[in-house]
Amino acid sequence: MCGIVGYVGPRAARPLLFAGLQKLEYRGYDSAGISVLEEGRIDSVRAVGNLSALRAALEARVEANGGLAEAAPGRAAAPVLAQAPVALAEAPVANTGIGHTRWATHGRVTEENAHPHYDNTDRVHIVVNGIVENYVALKDRLLAEGARFTSETDAEVIAHLVAHFNTDGLVDAVRKAYAELRGHYAFVAMSAEEPGLLVGARKECPLIIGRGEGEQYIASAIPAFLRETRHVQYIGDDEIVVLRPDEVEFQTAAGEVLARDVVEIDWDADTAEKQGYETFMLKEIHEQADAVAETIGERAAHEDSIDLGDLEAIDDELLRTARRIVVVACGTSYHAGLIGRYSIEEWARMPVEVDIASEYRYRNPVIGPGDLVVGISQSGETADTLAAMRTARSRGASVLAITNIMGSQITRESDGVLYTRAGLEIGVAATKTFVSQVAVMYLLALRLAELRGHLEPGSLARAITEVKRLPHLIAEMLEHGLAGLSDIADAHAGAEFFLYIGRHVGLPVALEGALKLKEISYIATDAYAAGEMKHGPIALLDDSTPVVVVATQSPVLEKVISNIQEVRARGARVIAVASEGDEQIAQHADEVIRVPRTEWMLAPLLAVIPLQLLAYHIADIDGKDVDQPRNLAKTVTVE
Ligand code: M6R
Repeated sequence: MCGIVGYVGPRAARPLLFAGLQKLEYRGYDSAGISVLEEGRIDSVRAVGNLSALRAALEARVEANGGLAEAAPGRAAAPVLAQAPVALAEAPVANTGIGHTRWATHGRVTEENAHPHYDNTDRVHIVVNGIVENYVALKDRLLAEGARFTSETDAEVIAHLVAHFNTDGLVDAVRKAYAELRGHYAFVAMSAEEPGLLVGARKECPLIIGRGEGEQYIASAIPAFLRETRHVQYIGDDEIVVLRPDEVEFQTAAGEVLARDVVEIDWDADTAEKQGYETFMLKEIHEQADAVAETIGERAAHEDSIDLGDLEAIDDELLRTARRIVVVACGTSYHAGLIGRYSIEEWARMPVEVDIASEYRYRNPVIGPGDLVVGISQSGETADTLAAMRTARSRGASVLAITNIMGSQITRESDGVLYTRAGLEIGVAATKTFVSQVAVMYLLALRLAELRGHLEPGSLARAITEVKRLPHLIAEMLEHGLAGLSDIADAHAGAEFFLYIGRHVGLPVALEGALKLKEISYIATDAYAAGEMKHGPIALLDDSTPVVVVATQSPVLEKVISNIQEVRARGARVIAVASEGDEQIAQHADEVIRVPRTEWMLAPLLAVIPLQLLAYHIADIDGKDVDQPRNLAKTVTVE
């Protein structure tokens, strides 16, 4: 997936942009480029391949221009641009610039197709993520007007279009160009005529501002500038943003100026590093104890009460009187909602529906005042989840958001927000954000139970105590408990199909385990309610099929054991995830993965962790890029 970074301020832009692109490498790319404004003209360097190719090209260019050699005599050639950016003096200082990593969609992997793109006068440069759907019509028109295209991309039309309108300044030109574009994209433009100015526009693809002292950043993801600033502003959909060293102005596409808060994120720049782990996903799996501990934090400080803090318009009265809860979410977040349903029904005795947001938004749902809709989204930007929430809100329901990203779109479209505190998650496969979402659902369920008086105080206190033990149990399990997993992965890595089954609270875990394996290993998986086996899926089984059974404690464990027998009778091999102390499982399963014992309601949060690792090891054995699986994006801003 492509990455964007832009800088405007007093410092040398090239090294900052290059460092930003390095932080976006995890997204995958096949070419890259940087344009900076230097002595009244824009200097652009692009290269096919990884960033070392771009670095070599940049160094050759700077060398040819005679500036850098003088500024840094005797330097080693390779690391110059990767070093701390401030240390690199450039002569002359180019302090407005844009950079891009490209993942080819329209047009081959060539230097000409790499970004930045520019117009025929070379006075307007742009970087673009996403797709311009009407580029053919626009290109024909621009060609007829004399534009000469140098690439095969859809993105290049934006450079020509902005240049075409660039008579009253870049801001006006971007606004006019934006009005003609269709599709989903984010772009940043710069003009040789206006040093110290970048203009960005966002339609459905992410674009974020990093605020510095007398300098500003713009990027498609926060890691690009996290070393420099933790003060961020989110650009809304259909908005244009104007960056100058001392100010950032947000505008609607029509030019109306918008107020936008600056949010201070508490992520450490080191969280954007692998810190000795082979991949971000593996690091994030091992951060799960901390993520859950942070998420629970002071919310469970009292022995017999949950404090969810200020949920704005979602007050205690609403929580006490809401007639039902409807959860809307996608992918892994949907699975967190499914787990939440069991805990809310069990503890608070409230009716709960959980829906896939992309389905919900196109139904004609029966929803209205008195209903509480919970939208779960790690990124806070998922188009379908936002649309489902808007539908519900427009019909009078109250909407509570659960997200990991402060200030994200979901927080601006909700009546209240509950944050997970998982820290930055870079791996496309959600892991630590998932367990944090589950932890929030437990807290919400306990708060509802408390307010509605459905758990007697002793039970409430016991459940809170057990929730607070979860981080410790996760840490123990990750440190000592899962040694046999890589052998199990080795034994089954060659399988072409995995079936996951579970019942009751084990079912969402089966769904999530199956999703993890398919998304990072590309192995076909299916996940089913174990009780449904004889209604169809059992026909899939033969002695080559590994069946992962979630068999942690639950009120239906005996039934799950019967399902295991059914499966084994067909010759399939059973890998069971079971709670410590359940010895009977070992008699039925071929392999058993143990997770710590806890209240059965909380077992899903633990049981999912070995399944994340199983998926990880299998994908790793197959040599897959687990952090950036093919065809997937971390944030899905299009439907
Ligand atoms: O940002 P969100 O939580 O709204 O994202 C929802 C899904 O796109 C996401 O969970 C996706 O399924 C992940 N790749 C799962 O690992």
